[in-house]
Amino acid sequence: MKITKICCIGAGYVGGPTMAVIAKKNPNIQVTIVDINAERIAAWNNEDVSQLPIYEPGLAEIVKETRGKNLHFSTEIDKSIDESEMIFISVNTPTKTYGKGKGMAADLKYVELCARNIAEVATTDKIVVEKSTLPVRTAQAIKSILNNTGNDVKFDILSNPEFLAEGTAIEDLLSPDRVLIGGESEEAIESLAKVYGAWVDDERILRTNVWSSELSKLTANAFLAQRISSINAISELCEKTEADVNEVARAIGMDSRIGPKFLSASIGFGGSCFQKDILNLVYIARSYGLTEVAEYWEQVITLNDHQKRRFSDNLISTLYNTVSGKKIAMLGWAFKKDTNDTRESAAIYVADHLLSEQAQIAVYDPKVSEQRIQADLNYLNTRSEEENQELVDTFNNPYEAVKDAHAIAIMTEWDEFKTYDWKKIYDSMKKPAFIFDGRNILNEEETTKLGFEYSGIGK
Ligand code: NAD
Ligand code: UGA
Repeated sequence: MKITKICCIGAGYVGGPTMAVIAKKNPNIQVTIVDINAERIAAWNNEDVSQLPIYEPGLAEIVKETRGKNLHFSTEIDKSIDESEMIFISVNTPTKTYGKGKGMAADLKYVELCARNIAEVATTDKIVVEKSTLPVRTAQAIKSILNNTGNDVKFDILSNPEFLAEGTAIEDLLSPDRVLIGGESEEAIESLAKVYGAWVDDERILRTNVWSSELSKLTANAFLAQRISSINAISELCEKTEADVNEVARAIGMDSRIGPKFLSASIGFGGSCFQKDILNLVYIARSYGLTEVAEYWEQVITLNDHQKRRFSDNLISTLYNTVSGKKIAMLGWAFKKDTNDTRESAAIYVADHLLSEQAQIAVYDPKVSEQRIQADLNYLNTRSEEENQELVDTFNNPYEAVKDAHAIAIMTEWDEFKTYDWKKIYDSMKKPAFIFDGRNILNEEETTKLGFEYSGIGK
């Protein structure tokens, strides 16, 4: 099938950047991203590209270059579906918060709604691409919905999971390690491979069956998250034995079988996907009666929760066992640098714990708004919105945030934190001035020389 028009349902962290890059590299294809969230679409259409709904280095430039030419953002979902030959489903697949599988399984209601929407309005043959991360065998369900419409439209379903990481999304999309396409119809697979072929070498485009493709995505995230829990587990041991986790990571990372990437000990992984995808994997394993497999992967989450809790416990015990009435300045709120995304950020859980111990929290994050921070805390329902408002202040200037603080907790590894005038910060804080470096980004020796009481992870 010759692809001239693509529709992507879901204008989020995946849909937006992925389609922007597809549009940039395929000037002859008209790409329209649709969403039910009119506010989000309006933000994508904002004249001022610094105000796009998501922040990703390099994204604004591509949107500026392609928007209005062959990249469009719209709320006219039905129209765009019907006009396009290829439809990507890139909607959210959060962990279920109700019913069977609550707290474990992926909630597929948004994906199913998309499939029903496509089934209802399509009048010509379509290739439907699962871009969202889905449980194994979801394509089967989508197929069953699409093939029972009663009209003569033919649907081919492909699985094309996305491997981009936030903060480096554009880089990852422009030079992917691989593009994975799972499907039954060779013709449909090749139509999608051609879209990517505009900039990705063919040997990097893997073709598999649908189920391998679906499972590979969950497996990749499980392996990545497992690496972080592994190094974080060792970080606790380092703290007891005077080994240094950075030195251990370097030593093991030079083994080419292990490799140096993704071995930074931290306050624990966050983000919208690792936890949800592992929980989903655990749920699937359990549903097939694979108890040992389920328990094996579940430990990755258990360890991650432990790491977050351990960080705040350590902060409290170091501050003489109480943070009540003390000002704790949190530098960073996003779940990693170079994104404004805060979903499942460790900062939320650390702040919540400290607030329950009656701390006063001051937050500075270069890309996260006060409204977002309050919404993240309110979502936990630990205390009233008024109390969160009263106990948490957000600042636009880091030096204001740390003024008179008893301690600083570094939650996100933003590069700018390394460039601050730490002498000035030390002078403005209450003494002794503590730093809890949840990302090991500061130089311990230099900070200690300035007078700080420094505490890193795994040191
Ligand atoms: P997101 O929440 O940022 O965006 C999803 C969008 O879909 C929202 O704007 C929502 O309004 C829209 N939507 C939901 N139902 C809709 C419907 N019926 N019709 C039209 N629009 C609808 O989510 P995201 O982070 O982009 O993630 C999307 C999927 O990609 C998930 O399955 C996720 O697991 C996967 N994924 C995410 C990342 C990442 O880094 N965020 C990376 C790889 C894969
Ligand atoms: C992750 C994967 O890296 C992507 O390949 C995948 O597509 C995506 O999930 C997804 O499916 O959503 P993302 O969550 O955006 O991407 O970001 P990562 O760079 O993986 O970081 C996740 C978390 O792990 C962050 O909180 C980060 O700070 C933490 N992390 C990462 C560490 O603590 N240590 C590390 O060494 C690396």
